[in-house]
Amino acid sequence: MGRCIVVTSGKGGVGKSTITGTLGMALAEAGARVTLVDADVGLNNLDLVLGIEGAVSYDLTDVERGRCRLTEALVTHPFCEDLALLSSRALGGATLTQKTFASVISALRRSADYVLIDCPAGIDEGFHRAVSAADEALIVTTPVPASVRDADKVSDLLAAYRLRRVEVIVNRVRGDLVLKGEVLGVGDVMSALRLPVVGSVPEDDEVLLSATVGRISDKESEYYRSITMIASHVMMGTSAVYDCTARYRGIIGFFRRIAR
Ligand SMILES: Nc1ncnc2c1ncn2[C@@H]1O[C@H](COP(=O)(O)OP(=O)(O)OP(=O)(O)O)[C@@H](O)[C@H]1O
Ligand SMILES: [Mg+2]
Repeated sequence: MGRCIVVTSGKGGVGKSTITGTLGMALAEAGARVTLVDADVGLNNLDLVLGIEGAVSYDLTDVERGRCRLTEALVTHPFCEDLALLSSRALGGATLTQKTFASVISALRRSADYVLIDCPAGIDEGFHRAVSAADEALIVTTPVPASVRDADKVSDLLAAYRLRRVEVIVNRVRGDLVLKGEVLGVGDVMSALRLPVVGSVPEDDEVLLSATVGRISDKESEYYRSITMIASHVMMGTSAVYDCTARYRGIIGFFRRIAR
């Protein structure tokens, strides 16, 4: 049985879907079989993030209503054969029960090493449905107080579930602003949340502008390297976290800082 990890946040728009998509890709490129599940029913965008929206014929709601088999609803990524997506584009999540969702997830776990669930924003029914089906959680936050406060609330809520691990990813980190003390650093987030920070992901213009990480051209980018470090943590328990401030240190870093 594969591991099931929910990617959640509390605050919306912090990068859950982007991280679910890229982390899935990094895990698959490292040799794992990965299935991504868009639990943001009706407001899905994981298909867009992966750049495969045109290939989705059936979704979670079709599986729930018996209109197709689960395997028919899975879309394999064209550039990454070990990465598949179960989308949820149809409105109508109201009828999707926690029990049905959990049974879909356990079926997926039989043929994947990792099932990553992209959680909807907020803490209502969709959140509970997604979290109940998982056995580990990654909380995504940005390095600003409002986002960290919501992550803290979510972390309190997660204590009520039987999760084996709850860990944090700090996304959209501007290393120059961390060095100036204008946004929180990894250590600050870790002490505020009292949870391990297992990833620090830089703010990246390509990610912001391209809307789809499915076509991220530069696998050597800082962004993708930070994600592969999270994938190593997930697969092998490594503890190194990408240092988003490194490129702003020293003489060259000084000029980069003033150029921003
Ligand atoms: N590291 C990053 N650098 C730059 N832009 C980013 C980064 N991560 C995410 N974004 C951008 O932030 C926006 C929100 O990302 P995303 O949709 O992944 O957030 P979300 O948490 O899934 O949102 P929602 O709560 O609405 O589901 C997108 O425009 C995305 O391209
Ligand atoms: Mg999302």
